[in-house]
Amino acid sequence: MQKQRVLTGITTTGTPHLGNYVGAIRPAIAASQSADIDSYLFLADYHALIKCQDPQHVHQSTREIAATWLALGLDPQKTHFYRQSDVPQIPELMWVLTCLTAKGLMNRAHAYKAAVQANEEAGEDPDFGVTMGLYSYPVLMAADILMFNAHKVPVGKDQIQHVEMARDIAQRFNHHFGEVFTLPEAVVDDVAVLSGLDGRKMSKSYGNTIPLFDTPKKLQKSINKIKTNLLEPGDPKDPDDSVVFEFWQAFANEEQVAYMREQYASGIAWGQAKKELFALIDEELAPARERYNELMQDIGYIENQLQLGAERARDEASVTIEKVRRAVGIHKMI
Ligand code: TRP
Repeated sequence: MQKQRVLTGITTTGTPHLGNYVGAIRPAIAASQSADIDSYLFLADYHALIKCQDPQHVHQSTREIAATWLALGLDPQKTHFYRQSDVPQIPELMWVLTCLTAKGLMNRAHAYKAAVQANEEAGEDPDFGVTMGLYSYPVLMAADILMFNAHKVPVGKDQIQHVEMARDIAQRFNHHFGEVFTLPEAVVDDVAVLSGLDGRKMSKSYGNTIPLFDTPKKLQKSINKIKTNLLEPGDPKDPDDSVVFEFWQAFANEEQVAYMREQYASGIAWGQAKKELFALIDEELAPARERYNELMQDIGYIENQLQLGAERARDEASVTIEKVRRAVGIHKMI
């Protein structure tokens, strides 16, 4: 039986935070170790340009994200680990897909609609500040996915629509030009959305994140800032209404979860709960943090791994793009 191909991309803007770790990185690395899947994980640096025009930032973030995944145990022998921009067949495929994607479909994309709505509310022209990159974002994402004939695409809720669009586009291509693409499916793991310091979803855009590989001291400081209520030491506390407990659950085993529930019931002080939380998180992250710091000093190694991944990805991509070109009538005369 053919292995399930699971593919996901990470946009290279920003520094990985605990929310990324719990919600995406940790499960993806665990999944990539499974013998019955074929995993593709790539740095979506062309996607980064849509949100960010600061070259230094895009470059630094690419480095940090690559080092993070490698430090956390991603095995580039088992996973296709590559940079989107190292596979020129992806933007090439994007153009072909662009030519058969209905403009009306793109008009319905959430990210574009949100930008238009914000403009309308501000009394601006509806398309103020909207680039063709933002508008065509889902087509580039479709090219990422269809290029490797992914079956499953693990994403956050905000990306489901994009995967569905990729599926629509694939269907349209196959219908028109013959079966070339696998129809992808979004997989959403909805247990693991971590709150941020202020209780809203942890996200760079809310400024409420805890960077994954901060020094232990900074990690402790951030944990101390997690929002709590005014209950005093000795007052019983509700674990299910506590961001500190939510973090605890994200890192603890079953036994530790039961232990902390008891502590809440018997009125653990917030300071103490945070102290124990820091120790728990630090224990899980410390070895990877050390490797991360080493890797950030050894960029040659990271680049090398990415190059190896890119070669394998290009080998596959060149087969698919050849099929695509033939299908649409672009190929040599003889
Ligand atoms: N757009 C995705 C995000 O912002 C990242 C991404 C780019 C992606 N290409 C992809 C995810 C292909 C899955 C598949 O999270």
